[in-house]
Amino acid sequence: MIIIAPSILSADFARLGEEAEDIRTAGAEYLHFDVMDGLFVPNISFGIPVLRSLRKTSGLFMDVHLMIDRPLRYVRAFCEAGADLVNVHVEADSAENNLLALEQIRALGRKTGVTLKPGTPAEALEPFLPFVDMVLVMTVEPGFGGQSFMFDQLDKIRRVRAMLDEVNPRCGLEVDGGINAETAPLAIEAGANILVAGSAVFGKSDRAAAIAALRGHQAEWR
Ligand code: DX5
Ligand code: ZN
Repeated sequence: MIIIAPSILSADFARLGEEAEDIRTAGAEYLHFDVMDGLFVPNISFGIPVLRSLRKTSGLFMDVHLMIDRPLRYVRAFCEAGADLVNVHVEADSAENNLLALEQIRALGRKTGVTLKPGTPAEALEPFLPFVDMVLVMTVEPGFGGQSFMFDQLDKIRRVRAMLDEVNPRCGLEVDGGINAETAPLAIEAGANILVAGSAVFGKSDRAAAIAALRGHQAEWR
């Protein structure tokens, strides 16, 4: 089953609650929540209080992607604010500290994830693979929505899927960046089962048709 995770980064921030409800009724399973600190990536988005507010009104699975330095400092706060899954970048701290972060997330009853930037090889995942519910392979440089899919990441997605099949076959494999109706089938064919999409969902007026197109279905006639 393919899971669609629209990135709220591309939503209308003046109407966040309505935007979340709109993608839920349009068929999305997850809400992808992109946190940026202006240090790990050259952009600043939103954080803990925004997640807490969205959590109050939305039943969507909150998929929190932390693009922040030393995430160990903040994983507890994001879990307590309502994250269902917290994803940390392998590049954001030492493996030792990231393992501690994953342990904290799990101890708080949430799901765990690790993320790779495009330049980071699949092998960097090795210390984490037994302890995660999701691996996220970035298919753009993190920091901004609306960039073009990096086709050279498809081999890495295949490699990660093969590694997971060996040590943690139930682990999800998410892709993030430049996913649209043309690139989604390539990512799925390479082994991804969770698709993040910002502009390809929030940039469209008919979100149900946009989500159906990502799954490879024709838009319903209306
Ligand atoms: C980029 C973010 C993505 C981004 C995706 O740093 O992690 O989640 O919002 O946006 P699109 O789908 O427009 O590439
Ligand atoms: Zn993201």
